[in-house]
Order: sequence, then C-alpha cells, then structure tokens
Amino acid sequence: MEKRFDIVSAGISAVDDLKYVDEYPPIDCKIPVHGSTRQGGGPACTATAAAGTLGGRTAYVARFGEGELARYMVWALGQHGVDTSHMVRDAEGGPYHSVIVVDRKGHRNVFYDPALYRTVRAEDMPDDLIASTALVLLDHITDPPLTPVAAKARRLSVPVLGDLEGETEASRGLAALTDYLVVPRHWAAWATGAGDPTKACAALASAERRATVVTNGVDGCYFSTPAHREVRHVPAFQVQAFDTNGCGDTFHGAFALSVARGLEVADAIVIASATAALKAVAAGGRKRGWEALPVLDAVREFLGERLQEPERSALLQKMEALR
Ligand SMILES: Nc1ncnc2c1ncn2[C@@H]1O[C@H](COP(=O)(O)OP(=O)(O)OP(=O)(O)O)[C@@H](O)[C@H]1O
Ligand SMILES: [Mg+2]
Repeated sequence: MEKRFDIVSAGISAVDDLKYVDEYPPIDCKIPVHGSTRQGGGPACTATAAAGTLGGRTAYVARFGEGELARYMVWALGQHGVDTSHMVRDAEGGPYHSVIVVDRKGHRNVFYDPALYRTVRAEDMPDDLIASTALVLLDHITDPPLTPVAAKARRLSVPVLGDLEGETEASRGLAALTDYLVVPRHWAAWATGAGDPTKACAALASAERRATVVTNGVDGCYFSTPAHREVRHVPAFQVQAFDTNGCGDTFHGAFALSVARGLEVADAIVIASATAALKAVAAGGRKRGWEALPVLDAVREFLGERLQEPERSALLQKMEALR
C-alpha cells in the first residue's frame, strides 16, 4: 500500500537565536553584537526538515501553542515542505529556545531554555497517522523519552528510527524499540562502555534491528545489519566544512528518507553521508542553519563527482526512488 508520508517524526524542536560577537568577553561586560540570525534546530526537527528539503513527504508532530517561537517553528518547517497539520494544540507548549553566542573564531556557547517543551504522548499520534507513514523518526535528549510512541509504532508494524543523544537510563528502553538505531559515538560509548566505535556498534547491534549505525563526525560512521553483522566503516566525504552544526541531524533525515523509500542500508548510508557533507560545506559558508540543507539534485551531483564507476551509476539509478 502506498503510504501518505515517508517520515512522521516527533522530538525536540528548537529556535536558535545566534548572536555574533568579535571575541568572548569576560563576565560583567557590555559588548556589541555585529550580526544576528534566527534558525530552526533540534535533532528530529532538523532531520525532518532535511528529508523535506530532499523532497520527502514528511510530517512533524509536537505540542505547540500560539506563542511566537511555536509560530516561527511551524513557519520554518513549512519552508522545508514539512506538514505541520498534525500538531497537537497545547497552549503552554513550544520549542526549546536557545541563544547561541558565536565569536569570530567560530567558538560558541549555547544557552538553552527547555521550559516550553512538552513531550508528545502516544495518544498525540493517532493510529491512522502512524499507519500512514513508512517510518517514524524519534529523538531523545531529555527524559521522559518517546518510548510510548515507539511502542505504538511497533504495534502498528511501522519501523522506528531513533536518534539518541541524551545519556539517560530511560533512553535504553527507547533504543530497544528501534528498527534503525542511528546514534552519535558519545551515546554509543556511554551505552556500551566501549570508546571504540566499531566495538560500540557491534555491542549495540541486534538480530532484530534492521540497522545499527554509530556516527563519528568527520571520521564517518560504522554500521551493522542482520545480514552483515560484522561492522563496516564508511568514511565521511572529505569537504571543506564551514558549519558542522546539524550534520548529524541531516544524516538522520537523509538516511530515514532513503530506507523509507526502500533503499538498502548500505546505500542509505552513502546518501546520508553525502547529504551531511553538503550541509557542512554550507555553500562555502554562505548559507546558515537550515538554509544549508541540500536538495536532492545537489546530493546527486555531489555523488556523481565523488563516486567511481560502477558504484556511481548503480547508486544514482537507485536514487531514482527518492524522486
Ligand atoms: N566535517 C564533516 N565533513 C563531512 N561529513 C561530516 C562532517 N561532520 C559530520 N559529517 C557526517 O555527518 C555524520 C554525522 O555526524 P556526527 O557524528 O557529528 O553527528 P552528531 O554528533 O549527531 O551531530 P549533531 O550535532 O548534528 O547532532 C558523520 O557520520 C559524517 O558522515
Ligand atoms: Mg546528533
């Protein structure tokens, strides 16, 4: 049956207000800012915007009121083709709000305020919404985790992709319910006690899960599937990175869309790596935040330049499924 959505997601959304200063001052100072920008953020939310930018049919669910930050988030998601019609009305609710001060060297401190964030409940995602998607994408930073939503998706036989960053005991329960576990190295190391990403990936992999992926920034990622349990390393594409903030989320979005459209895990990882690398390039630093999320043709062009035959033609052919 053709599904209405490729991805329905829930998790953290954030409005990031970036302030640019020359240098970090000592405390008790007044200094001017020489630029400001507002950007969307949050793992699941950015992943969904990334998949929407690639042309995926996506929806994001959150408990939002009518506040300025919530309205900004809905607008920003809409700019990236994400359906927000399934938002749950919660007068008090809204995204995280971060103020991020960046100096000329690119150092930054993040001051985040989670006060408006309300965790989506299982009843906020009705059965027919979950049944209408090929995949449910959930993140985890703070408790309570989205485990009840994952359990519901599992009951409805819709695969769950988890992006777990918050090192809380409850995140283990969410991990156990994922069909695709795609986590950064720090979470994998915390969960397994293995600092080495190959060992951590092997320890996390399970026969029931379709894929276990550990990402490790510029080093690339490590993955294991039931058909090929031995962990494989996929190097990141070498690029001149201008802004790696949100690369992991972009990776999740592209990976989720690829597997939702039926591509094999190994191919989805190459597509995700390319999409994340392009996000890092950020059009040579000319684009910021979600503006730097690449469209599908840009990812195809990049892979066309970076891959060798016969892999190039084979993958570009398979990527027709993403159109
Ligand atoms: N500098 C870079 N150049 C090229 N690719 C990169 C770079 N940084 C990250 N990537 C790609 O993005 C993937 C995910 O990055 P990373 O492991 O940093 O995720 P993360 O820690 O979840 O980041 P985020 O802060 O976005 O949540 C990597 O496996 C790699 O393929
Ligand atoms: Mg991440």
